[in-house]
Amino acid sequence: MKRHYDAVVIGGGIIGSAIAYQLAKEKKNTALLESGTIGGRTTSAAAGMLGAHAECEERDAFFDFAMHSQRMYRGLGEELFALSGIDIRRHDGGMFKLAFSEEDVSRLRRMDDLDSVSWHTKEEVLEKEPYTASEIYGASFIQDDVHVEPYFVCKAYAKSAKALGADIFEHAPVFDVTRGGESILVKTASGDMHADYVVVASGVWSGMFFKQLGLNQSFFPVKGECLSVWNDDIPLTKTLYHDHCYIVPRKSGRLVVGATMKPGDWSEKADLGGLQSVMEKAKTMLPAIQNMKVDRFWAGLRPGTKDGKPYIGKHPQDSRILFAAGHFRNGILLAPATGALIGDLIMNKEVKADWLHAFRIDRKEAVQI
Ligand code: GLY
Repeated sequence: MKRHYDAVVIGGGIIGSAIAYQLAKEKKNTALLESGTIGGRTTSAAAGMLGAHAECEERDAFFDFAMHSQRMYRGLGEELFALSGIDIRRHDGGMFKLAFSEEDVSRLRRMDDLDSVSWHTKEEVLEKEPYTASEIYGASFIQDDVHVEPYFVCKAYAKSAKALGADIFEHAPVFDVTRGGESILVKTASGDMHADYVVVASGVWSGMFFKQLGLNQSFFPVKGECLSVWNDDIPLTKTLYHDHCYIVPRKSGRLVVGATMKPGDWSEKADLGGLQSVMEKAKTMLPAIQNMKVDRFWAGLRPGTKDGKPYIGKHPQDSRILFAAGHFRNGILLAPATGALIGDLIMNKEVKADWLHAFRIDRKEAVQI
């Protein structure tokens, strides 16, 4: 193990891997430290929807950042494939965000002015996706809310970072980060490292590092339980989405169905009650799903913050320490823009003031959940 790096990134999920890639692209001598395996926890539990429109209700800085990150995915697959040989498995069918009431209709129709969104009547939806539940009132079709396969995106980022010179360490938990002398000391299971910059990107497990670094921002898990089924019978090309639940058609023929929202549950195991609620919800969107064969089920921990927004930026008292954590429901979507933002901060490039302000570490959070 080298003893000194320009930058050490703690956390090998999709956020940390995107940051390591960006820094390697900037020719920074970078180490990525992951306590388990790259992309093995929250990242691989995600469905991979790039739901900038579906997940954002407000037209605020978060939405702007999400739209920017969604656009960054254009061309990313080719860029990472050229370096890593890994296909991020983008599926371009788009999404139907379904309405099951007049209230849903009026909420969804607020998106009508957005370029990528078009309202579809019930008949138009059923013409395009004939197996959608006949109880719908209509749906917003969102062309750009496509999906990717998160584990492959993460692996492609990490392998591409490695191809550009980064060192990737798996099974390398970090015990302590100490500020002080000229460089920052990072104590890991495989020995000590020094770094000019340290980036904390450990998802819901980031709280411990904030504390070690004198900050008290907290993170809490919002567990999501999912399952997948084999669809051998019906055509489905678009994601179906309603009320934070979704059915995502993979290229393999599987449908990924998610997800529960269980704040405060640290277990990474799915339980029967959770899976049952996901199945019930899926049947209301796609009745034919009840005859499909179960493939597997799983759970992951979304990193929740008090105001539902991530922390992305510099430590208020030490610009050598940066944070990128708390992406809640949108880690996959926001990974490219987060990687670029952290890269730009370390390279002292100009960054959008609205984003810095919205995601700054010392903001006063309005409690949302
Ligand atoms: N982004 C979907 C979810 O968190 O369930």
